[in-house]
Amino acid sequence: MIKGFLFDLDGVIVDTAVYHYQAWRRMANELGFDISEEFNETLKGISRMDSIARILEHGKVSLPEERILELAKLKNEWYLEEVEKMTSANVLPGIQELISQLKAGGYKISLGSASKNAPKILERIGLAPEFDAIVDGNSVKKSKPDPEVFIKGAEALNLKNEECLVIEDAFAGIEAAHAAGMKAIGIGTKENLPNADLILASFEEVKLEDLFKEL
Ligand code: BG6
Ligand code: MG
Repeated sequence: MIKGFLFDLDGVIVDTAVYHYQAWRRMANELGFDISEEFNETLKGISRMDSIARILEHGKVSLPEERILELAKLKNEWYLEEVEKMTSANVLPGIQELISQLKAGGYKISLGSASKNAPKILERIGLAPEFDAIVDGNSVKKSKPDPEVFIKGAEALNLKNEECLVIEDAFAGIEAAHAAGMKAIGIGTKENLPNADLILASFEEVKLEDLFKEL
């Protein structure tokens, strides 16, 4: 029986996945190569340092550790320029309503994000007080598809893994949910998320009871 929901942040609650892509693309372009949207799919849910390693490998660029750290910092500054402009208007359609339905239904909710910027983003969009727990890039060591982030989310809610349902927009995130013994709803398309237990384009007009019928 499901008692809790674990929400990914980037690409689920807010459309920051686009800002991550733009900033990584700018960095790649400055290094003399490009990254496609298709390649970007493989970066979703992956921590900042693991992402930069994958991007440099993709561009066949080898750099000293110090320079890699500098570039990751720069990418984050570009990314935060967009985050600073965010308000509650950036919450994706249907998310606020879903959270209200979950609260009314007595479900617990936790964040389960790889992002170190998660607290800042939740503050900006005004959703921080809604969460019973926050597990983010500051509290985990291993990147999705490792299940650590969701195992910690279930623990923080005092629930068993199988009592939690994950909401994700990343292939790696759905793999992480499954590795934790949880089902996952994918926000996206069948092509991008063939591993999801249920696919939705968004939460707009989605009723909780209908979700459970389809899972
Ligand atoms: C994930 C994103 O949520 O967080 C990744 O899908 C991102 O694209 C990762 O790299 C880490 O985010 P941040 O904000 O700590 O750089
Ligand atoms: Mg995501």
